[in-house]
This record gives sequence, C-alpha cells and structure tokens, in this order.
Amino acid sequence: MTKPLIIAFDGPAASGKGTLASRIATDYGLPMLDTGLLYRAIGFLRAEAQGDMADAAAVAALASDITPELLENPSLRGRGAGEWASQVAAIPEVRTALKQFQIDFAQQPSGAILDGRDIGTVIAPDADVKIFVTAAPEVRAHRRWLQLVKDTPDLTPDEVLADIRLRDERDSSRSSAPLEMAKDAVLLDTTDLGIEAAIEHARRIVKDRRGSH
Ligand code: CDP
Repeated sequence: MTKPLIIAFDGPAASGKGTLASRIATDYGLPMLDTGLLYRAIGFLRAEAQGDMADAAAVAALASDITPELLENPSLRGRGAGEWASQVAAIPEVRTALKQFQIDFAQQPSGAILDGRDIGTVIAPDADVKIFVTAAPEVRAHRRWLQLVKDTPDLTPDEVLADIRLRDERDSSRSSAPLEMAKDAVLLDTTDLGIEAAIEHARRIVKDRRGSH
C-alpha cells in the first residue's frame, strides 16, 4: 500500500489557498476539505436563526447540524458568511467541536489535502507538506472583489479590502488557534503570480518536500 500523503494549506483570506489545494488534490487524486466552509456553515446557521454570535455553547452546538448539502449552499461563499465565520471561529468551543472531524479527514488511509488557518499547526501538525499561502492585502481584496461583485454589483474594492483587513486582524490575534505559519511550512507568496504560475510553484514545493521525507 502506498504511504498516505497529507498536505496542509494555510493562509489569510483570499490568498488563493483553496484554488491551489483543489488543483493539487486533483493531481494526486486525494480527497480535499475546505475547512473554512465548516466555520462558514456555523456562522450562517446562527445568522439565519438571528442568534447571538457570542453565545459560545449555542454556536458550538450547531456543529452537529452541518450536513454535506449545507456545505454546497452558495450562500456560504458570500461576504456575510465570511465575516460570521471569522467571528465564530474565534470561539474555542467552536474549534473544539470541529476538530475531530478534521483530524479524521486528514488521517484517512490515502491521506488528504486540507485548507484553512490552523491545519499545519493544530489539525495536522505531522503533515508531509505544509504550504502557507499569502499575498498582499490589496491583491487579495481585488481577487475576492472579482468573485463577489457578480452577485453584489454595488460592492466596491475598498469595502472588500476593509473586510479582509478586519478578518486578518481577528484571525491572527485570537487566542485559540490563531492564523500563523507553522515553523516547518514553506511560504508561497502569490502577490505577483497568476493562477497557473502559483500552481506550478505549489507543485514544486510538494515534490521537493515529498522527496525530503
Ligand atoms: O476563503 P477565505 O480565505 O476568505 O475564508 P475561509 O477559508 O472560508 O475562512 C473563513 C473564516 O473561517 C476565516 O476568516 C477564519 O476566521 C475561519 N477559519 C478558521 O478559523 N480556521 C480554519 N481552519 C478555516 C477557516
């Protein structure tokens, strides 16, 4: 049996980690989990119920309401869901409620690719390859604006930049599993890279790292 391969992609909002993770998952035929969707789903459910985002126990209990269908809901990709996700993601009880599911996903026999904020540090600290994907805030905001403006024509790039800065700050400063680069991660800055060039860089990092294990 071939050895499992676990690859962790972490990084700030709209850095391109999801796109890179899914392309590398296709290359290697590995299952992939976008862990941000789990936090988005909880934030979305809580917002729909008009509940208090700061009620730790009630928000964490929503982890058991996440279904595969909910994770396909396009509303989870919206601007509001990203903001709610970052609020609920700072609650330690929420992180605990989602942790084992992510660990089990990472530990399946084939291995897996996960993208998020704390994959290389908390969920899969022994991952074979860890890539920390980043880009300048203005570049990330522009990319995210291009995605969101289709459904929200009045949205301005500056509003998206403000959202991203707020989220970066909250995600990096929280006490529970903050966004930070694992010591053994490779930094991939996509500020000046198009999608295909970034994918080539990521492929090379995976090959190099696998070779060194
Ligand atoms: O796509 P984008 O990078 O904007 O966001 P995402 O990956 O879907 O994550 C949404 C929010 O969930 C982030 O701002 C984080 O606060 C939180 N998150 C987290 O705390 N840990 C993860 N492993 C993934 C997401």
